[in-house]
Amino acid sequence: MRRGRATFTSRFGFYMAAAGSAIGLGTFWRFPYIAGANGGGGFVFLYVFAVAIIGLSVLVAELMLGKVTRFNVVGALSYRSWVGKSKGWRFFGILGLAASFVILSYYTIISGWVIHFVVQAAAGKFTRSDMSSGIVIDQLMAKTILQILLVSVHLIVTMSIVGRGVQDGIEKSSRVFMPLLFLIVLFLLGHSMFLPGAREALRFMFYPDFSRLSTMGLIEAVGHALFSLSLGFGAMVAYGSYLRPEVHLPSEAVFVSVIDTILSLCAGMVIFPIVFTANVAPNAGPGLLFKTLPVIFGQFAMGYWVALAFFVCLYFAALSSSISLFEGLVAYFMDEKKLTRSGATILVSGISLVLAVFTVASETSVINVTIAGRTMLEVADQYLINWTLPVVALGVSLYTGFKVPDDIRRQEFIDEANPAAVKLYPTWVAMVRWFIPALIIFAMAIQVSWFIF
Ligand code: PHE
Repeated sequence: MRRGRATFTSRFGFYMAAAGSAIGLGTFWRFPYIAGANGGGGFVFLYVFAVAIIGLSVLVAELMLGKVTRFNVVGALSYRSWVGKSKGWRFFGILGLAASFVILSYYTIISGWVIHFVVQAAAGKFTRSDMSSGIVIDQLMAKTILQILLVSVHLIVTMSIVGRGVQDGIEKSSRVFMPLLFLIVLFLLGHSMFLPGAREALRFMFYPDFSRLSTMGLIEAVGHALFSLSLGFGAMVAYGSYLRPEVHLPSEAVFVSVIDTILSLCAGMVIFPIVFTANVAPNAGPGLLFKTLPVIFGQFAMGYWVALAFFVCLYFAALSSSISLFEGLVAYFMDEKKLTRSGATILVSGISLVLAVFTVASETSVINVTIAGRTMLEVADQYLINWTLPVVALGVSLYTGFKVPDDIRRQEFIDEANPAAVKLYPTWVAMVRWFIPALIIFAMAIQVSWFIF
């Protein structure tokens, strides 16, 4: 184990940082729109199942790779004493880092929109009588410079936190933002549950009507489970590398998965009652949050506060996830390219800015331009999440299952004080060696066959 790597100061600090990574735009923006598009209950059920079966096991694997090697994802996947000089496994790490940059190119744009929405909410825009569907987002899309400015503000905030390091930046900020986020979600839940549409919304979300589910829904559930737990990017490998030696992985992974799933369900329980009360379609696609919701706030008694709380909460979620996306990349540039933390942070921000400017400029409107009936955003998002993440997860699973020595895995997995971990160990090994790879290869094969035929 190498010396001198920063660590989280406490379990609570790690929990907040890791939960901050997991709970993000994927939770509040992506989950409701794909659950809505896939018919609700059946999809929600599959998603929870995918988190419990695949997400949890891969999360243990990613944290383990980081914790044992004390490296970023690429370093961990080419750890000398496990693979000798062979470089093949690195490919999965590099793919994960590439995925991080692709995601950053739109994650930062959407985070910028959220900043704009916070400002508009504070100015009372959403409760004015002349609000109409999509007006705020459409006006924003028409302003390229404003969007780039907003992205820059978001990048500066992210940079200033990541640049301060693991303890003073990432951990400290998460300790403040995440509890605040939980409080805001409680307030919003309290509001949504008393709306007239609440019953219908709960039925839509929790009644598993599998007839509305397609095979694509199955693949999307797996992809979203990985995305939502920040798996397949290297972010969780980096966070794992800052864990202290005495920490036990299964309990940390269970905490992160459970809290992330609870928050995703809460996000649905906040958003769908609003959608059903206003009688709008739950399958509005990526625009659900930015086009549909804003029109509705004006109809509520406390609309001003609900809108403001909602978008502030969304920003905390976007920020803490952006931080971990950054950190996965910063850890790589620090470990492998020997940059300083400030150098690496500036480099990652610079590349993100270029990517975002390119995206904004090339598609004046990522939400409105469509290819074969789907928006640009959906297309980019889908390729990345349903293709790239499963491939990285496949690499990580096989590597952990076959390359990491059994005594090390055991030592990291099993906690003598916890008999459940002793019992679960063989199951987890079988999952990462056989079950998860088989399932992912199967899902890829289906997609490839659709692609060809
Ligand atoms: N899990 C985050 C979300 O749900 C996305 C993310 C992926 C964040 C990878 C960091 C790293 O929005």
